[in-house]
Order: sequence, then C-alpha cells, then structure tokens
Amino acid sequence: MPNHTISIIDFFSLESAMATEFRRLLNNIQSSSPDREVKSVLITSAMLSEGKSTVCAFLAVTAAKKGLRTLLVDSDLRRPSLHKLFIMPRDQGLVDILSDGVAPKTVVKKTSLEKLDLITAGKAIAHPAEVFDPGAIGRLVSEMKFYYDLIVVDAAPIIPVSDPMLLAPLVDGVLMVVRAGRTQRDVVRRAKEIIGGATNRLLGVVLNNAENSLPYYFDQGYYGYDYGQKVPGTGKGNGRRNKNGNGGEPRKPSQPDDKKKVTP
Ligand SMILES: Nc1ncnc2c1ncn2[C@@H]1O[C@H](COP(=O)(O)OP(=O)(O)O)[C@@H](O)[C@H]1O
Ligand SMILES: [Mg+2]
Repeated sequence: MPNHTISIIDFFSLESAMATEFRRLLNNIQSSSPDREVKSVLITSAMLSEGKSTVCAFLAVTAAKKGLRTLLVDSDLRRPSLHKLFIMPRDQGLVDILSDGVAPKTVVKKTSLEKLDLITAGKAIAHPAEVFDPGAIGRLVSEMKFYYDLIVVDAAPIIPVSDPMLLAPLVDGVLMVVRAGRTQRDVVRRAKEIIGGATNRLLGVVLNNAENSLPYYFDQGYYGYDYGQKVPGTGKGNGRRNKNGNGGEPRKPSQPDDKKKVTP
C-alpha cells in the first residue's frame, strides 16, 4: 500500500493548466442557467472510474480558492473516495445522517482550505442501498444552501446504479464526466438519456483526459473496486481496471494536462 499522504488540496496548483480548465468549468457552471442560480451540482458518469471524484474534488477546491463557501458531499456510498483524496476519516458522514439522524452540521469536516468543507460517506455498512434516501439527501442539499455558495455532490455512476438518477432532479444541475477514449459512445449516450429522462438539468459533459495527469498515489485502483455489473446491451464488462488502472505500470507523477470542458 503506498503512503497516501498528499491531500488533493496540496497537489492542486493555481498556476497549472488544469487549474485554468477548472476555473473555466466553474464559470461555465455558474453561467449555465441565466434564469436561475446553480448552487448545487451533482457529478456522475456512465461508468465507474471515469473521474467523477477527481473532478468533484478539483472543482470544489477551485470554487473554494475563488472565495465561494463550498461543500463537497460524497454520495457514492458503494465506492466512496473523497475522504481518501482529502486524507480524512471516512466515518461520521452521510450514512450517519441518513441512518442515525445525526445532525448534518456535526459531521461536516473542515479541510485545510478555509472555504472548503466536506461531508464524507460516513460509516461503512453492508447494504448502502438500504439507507440511500434521495429525498433526505435532497433536503440536506437544500438546507446546506443556506450556509454555502456551492454544493458539489459526488455520485455513483449512472448505468450500474440508480442512485444518481434519483438525486438528479433534486439538485440545480448535473454534470456528466466522460473519460476520454475509454467509455463507449453508446454507453455515454444511454447515460445521457437516463439523466435526461430524470431531469432537464444536465448542464453538460466534462471530458476527462485522464491519461497520466495525476500522480500514481491518487490512483483509487490501489483500493481495488468494482461495481460488479455488466453494461446493459453492450456485452462488455464495467471498465474495471487492474490494480494500477493502466495495464500494470504504476502511474508516474507528471504535469497535469487535463482538458475539461462543458458542452451544454
Ligand atoms: N485526469 C486524470 N488524470 C489521471 N488520473 C485520473 C484523472 N482523473 C481520474 N484519474 C484516476 O482515475 C481513477 C478513477 O478516478 P475517480 O475520480 O476515482 O473516478 P470515479 O469517481 O468516476 O470512479 C483514480 O485512480 C484517479 O486518480
Ligand atoms: Mg468516485
């Protein structure tokens, strides 16, 4: 197990090309709906490992650095990872709010960025689907809008799991992350249809050009996960990656060179 001790906050450099792309993404989100303010954004993708959590984390850091009071919520209860990216305990978070009625304010975790707070997934439970309550999460997000300028919700992938579809109508906007060069076109199209069927709030697609732009120690592949389901209609697996996610070689640290864009 690698020494996973560098928070994504410390990795983020304001001068990087990636930071510029995320500032652009944030501006696009904020100006995407002229008729209403977008204060809560759900981030999903067709499949797992497309970069949802990474995009959520960088977007939230970008917003906080811009001065927005920002709350990041990990709602991917099956494969939560925001606590790992921010090097915080997973416990005391969304599951505790949903299953034990713990007051949200008592589980909000402060990060090293003054304006950025985090609600981690909370205690690990055997059957997250049983406590996943979209109505309660929707109410939590609405309540938190009172304290924050932007709430970013990290969601499960839309094809294998129904959770994000249920959450989509309860936020101001939905972003879909597509991992460039990997997820099949028909799978992405199907995911867009599902989101479109659930809400008219799809703000756009974030193209994550994920090859070699983050150091290997951020690779969640180290934690080995798998939604364990097939992609309906494609006869393919679920894009599951090996331990290092790149065919066996550990990913080497390199300069970030993501391309992020919103195409409404
Ligand atoms: N732009 C990127 N450059 C390099 N690696 C990336 C990038 N985006 C995501 N990854 C890596 O891909 C893996 C999956 O990303 P993650 O954000 O956890 O996906 P998801 O939340 O969609 O499952 C992680 O190991 C992450 O570090
Ligand atoms: Mg994730």
